[in-house]
Amino acid sequence: MTSKPRVFVTAPVNPSVLDFLRARCEVQNYDGEGIMPSSELAQICHEREIEGLVLIGVPVTAELLEEAKKLRAIALMSVGYDNVDLPACTARRIPISNSRGSLEETTADLAFALILAVARRVVEADRFMREGQWTRWRWNTLWGADVYGKTLGIIGMGNIGQAVARRAHGFSMRILYSNLQRVAESVERGLGAEYATRETLLRESDFVSLHVPLTPQTERMITAREISLMKPSAFLINTARGRVVDEEALVQALKAGRLAGAGLDVFEREPRPHPGLLPLENVVLLPHIGSGTEECRTRMAMVAARNLLAALDGGRPPNILNPEVFGPDRS
Ligand code: DGY
Repeated sequence: MTSKPRVFVTAPVNPSVLDFLRARCEVQNYDGEGIMPSSELAQICHEREIEGLVLIGVPVTAELLEEAKKLRAIALMSVGYDNVDLPACTARRIPISNSRGSLEETTADLAFALILAVARRVVEADRFMREGQWTRWRWNTLWGADVYGKTLGIIGMGNIGQAVARRAHGFSMRILYSNLQRVAESVERGLGAEYATRETLLRESDFVSLHVPLTPQTERMITAREISLMKPSAFLINTARGRVVDEEALVQALKAGRLAGAGLDVFEREPRPHPGLLPLENVVLLPHIGSGTEECRTRMAMVAARNLLAALDGGRPPNILNPEVFGPDRS
């Protein structure tokens, strides 16, 4: 009888996912707080001869792989893989997959929550109430900006960008988008979105929402120069990756009133937002919770678990990131 593959899960995922994996594997999981320390994971992989990893947040480095001699497959419980050394996985012929398809709608919900929160000053108004500042009704109490009928600029028209565009329809917004590649005309038509250069998008949008992965090309895509192209009445929304934006330039623009506000779920140096953001009333700050619902986190873990099992069986996981480990695609 062959033994079950040894799998380690780096987060306290829903028990239904652990049960699903346990039917086929020997499973252990991290139940500590926060992102599991890399050194701890490396030690566990080494000592327990781990063959499969279901992972989130921990960087996948050549050093980790060096310790994990028996590792045969990695499945990320995230869509972003900016913290993965993909060439190192490929060199070891370890298939690695992400959890695309599980979190796009949930993240789009949060991007829209930020749009509404910054435009209508929801968090500021809540603070106003709790501090007992509401002493009488006034004509101009906490005036915000309309969302309805405004122009939304989506930078990065992948699955999350498209899910945001679908929501914008309900608000009768004009939708501009920029992307590495123009999406198919039928998709554009379905979304009612117009392709624009990044410069036009920045100049014309009332809300600019970022939905690009972090790559060398997108790192610091939004600097003082890009912000200077935006309307002073515009808002910047970031649910993608903090390092896409030069946070210092953003703070300076918000302080100087060169931008109306920002809604941020991600930061250059998590978990520490730029200290200049904290005193600003015109920003809403969230602790990287784009996919943070129980339903979504369970879907993310389940998609990862399915991908992992496929790879451990020697098959091609549906969300493979390095298909070259399987040789030329003959499908
Ligand atoms: C992702 O999937 O990359 C998210 O940032 C994790 O929540």
